[in-house]
Amino acid sequence: MTYFRPNIDALAGYVPGEQPSPDAKVIKLNTNENPYPPSPQALQVLKELEGELLRRYPDPMAGAFRQAASQVLGVPADWILVGNGSDDLLTMIIRACTEPGRGVVYPMPTYVLYRTLAQIQDADILEVPYQEDYTLPVEELIAAQGAVTFIASPNSPSGTVVPVELLEKLATGLSGVLVIDEAYTDFAEENALELIKNHDNVIILRTLSKGYSLAGLRLGFGIANPALLAGLIKVKDSYNVDAIAIAVGAAAMGDQDHKNTNVQKIKDSRVQVAIELEELGFKLYPSQSNFLLVGLSKILAEKFTSDSAEFLYKMLKQRGILVRYFQQPRLEDKLRITIGTSEQNAALIKTLRNCLQ
Ligand SMILES: Cc1ncc(COP(=O)(O)O)c(C=O)c1O
Repeated sequence: MTYFRPNIDALAGYVPGEQPSPDAKVIKLNTNENPYPPSPQALQVLKELEGELLRRYPDPMAGAFRQAASQVLGVPADWILVGNGSDDLLTMIIRACTEPGRGVVYPMPTYVLYRTLAQIQDADILEVPYQEDYTLPVEELIAAQGAVTFIASPNSPSGTVVPVELLEKLATGLSGVLVIDEAYTDFAEENALELIKNHDNVIILRTLSKGYSLAGLRLGFGIANPALLAGLIKVKDSYNVDAIAIAVGAAAMGDQDHKNTNVQKIKDSRVQVAIELEELGFKLYPSQSNFLLVGLSKILAEKFTSDSAEFLYKMLKQRGILVRYFQQPRLEDKLRITIGTSEQNAALIKTLRNCLQ
């Protein structure tokens, strides 16, 4: 006896990274949060919120935030759709565009939620392996002709960016929707926003969770031709973004200086941490995000009998440092480590050095 559809019974469910309580004494480098506080201007808006704002339902289209994002990005407000995190946009896209027989395609390894959402919808799934150096398998992705194709750029967990020319080739070759998930774009050297001008099938996803230090607020948005957004609006929850997120998010968007200063600190630290990890013998992938994918196979072979990175994840956890270990093909000998503050990064390197001795 079951209450659920067969695909829900079969579903493992998405497992988010651990979220210890805020007062737990851990260095948290496992879910790619920004280690610096949000914009003081945004926090001021939060403090001054009036009860009246909460008595009423919020603006269904999050107009104030849309306006703020429109100004920053230089795209018309009606090309922007706001969501409860960019995960909400992923849900809308899968809901609106896929079903059994209308498939979802993405390169692997990537953000695991694409698979979970497609499984919930009972959509067909085709996973195409990235090349070893995370070059995008463009021809295979085009040949698959998914109803929806997801590309995270920068990708998680590799941190690698797909060049815009390749994304344009994909956009041209696909008749379905191309989702370019730019959750980590604030830390990257290029983005694909210009593609929305000439490609009606492209939607770019952004979030305030990473660059803007607002993962707890749950605010993300999609940028696409209004005709594509119209279908997504039909399937979204009516009040998918709450009044607090709209007001605080609009203020955060307006404070680009704050975001840019923190992003620069993280990019500088990323260079430093990468050098130190390489000195310790780890293999790194070229990251344009706020984390590093760290390969351990050389160290595992030289110093330990295990061929899994899980034990090092556990050793770090015992010592109060949380990083991310994925029990997945191609990732079992790797850890994904978020860039923290200078103090946190120094503690990480010191602890790793101790673990390896
Ligand atoms: C590639 C990718 N897309 C989307 C998200 C979700 O972002 P949000 O917090 O806006 O839902 C994440 C979160 O880690 C991510 O790694």
